[in-house]
Amino acid sequence: MTDVHGEEFAREVVDAMREIGAIHPGHRGVHAKGTLCGAEFTPTPDAAMLSGAAHFAGPPVRAHVRFSNGAGDPEAPDYEPREGRGMAVKFYPPDNPTTDIVAITLPVFFVRDPDAFLEFVRARVPDPATGEVDMAKVGAFLGAHPEALAAATHVMTAEPPESYLTMAYNSLHAFGFTDGAGTLRFGRYRFDPEGGERTIPADEAASRGAHYLREDLAARLAEGPARFTLSVQLAGEDDPIDDPTVAWPDSRERVEMGTLEITGLAFDREQGDDVLVFDPTRVIDGIELSDDAILHFRSHAYAESVKRRSGVSRPTAPY
Ligand code: HEM
Repeated sequence: MTDVHGEEFAREVVDAMREIGAIHPGHRGVHAKGTLCGAEFTPTPDAAMLSGAAHFAGPPVRAHVRFSNGAGDPEAPDYEPREGRGMAVKFYPPDNPTTDIVAITLPVFFVRDPDAFLEFVRARVPDPATGEVDMAKVGAFLGAHPEALAAATHVMTAEPPESYLTMAYNSLHAFGFTDGAGTLRFGRYRFDPEGGERTIPADEAASRGAHYLREDLAARLAEGPARFTLSVQLAGEDDPIDDPTVAWPDSRERVEMGTLEITGLAFDREQGDDVLVFDPTRVIDGIELSDDAILHFRSHAYAESVKRRSGVSRPTAPY
């Protein structure tokens, strides 16, 4: 992986991101508005056949889940339709480092390399004269990057969620899974909500209020736990494992990895000096990163955002 897309490049990208979302000191560069929940993950026997990782091959493990909106503004209304909603999960397998899955409602990503990502962000920086995004610039970007059309179309047409708990979330990147015999297979994660996916029209979402997703989460979890099924879609022989802009055919084998039970809102992290970071490159034995340049770059971009919001460089335990 090239160093060109290391820390310095991450500073440029996060600067550009801040220009889109304005500056919100103390908050994440994007996905600034989120709600943290407590959870427990119970793996299936099939999970252990695919990966020897401690949370897949062992007993149930504790987890945290942060649901979020994509914007950089922590006060952005929940009903905003043009958003990718996030589901970031941190597993705490005993006697192991923590490990994360950071997923989103988009079915594919906009770009396959960090340079194109910077171009994409810059195309959406509002014109200082009008305060509006220049759609001609966005159009020119999409013309030059047809790989971004699928994700852009999704964002433009998707309805807001009924609830964070009624959406499916995708890792988009492929990860390698190694079983006890050392066999390596690549696949992509997806979380599916127990009751199926449900969205609502934009006007109905607006009538529910600026914080309806956060309020809905608290209300539903006060009634009892909610569940997601975690699965891994395995790559076929010719499926690209380093390109998050390309969807794989639905017909590909899917391994059910386990159930994530969301037990309630959580207030035991991000208090005082605690810095909570979800980073998709934080994997443990039994899982490895693919050669996806976006995946590798995310670690640098997240570290830069964390440094700006908390003053801490690459926080370590307990993360
Ligand atoms: C070049 C590509 C990307 C860049 C530069 C980028 C950048 C960022 C940054 C700076 C943050 C805030 C990190 C923090 O302060 O903790 C963030 C959070 C997040 N990103 Fe990305 N991102 C990228 C791609 C993706 C992709 C592909 C996904 C989904 C698969 C994704 C999903 C998320 C989510 C869900 C969060 C919120 C995590 C949390 O709740 O703490 N991002 N991203």
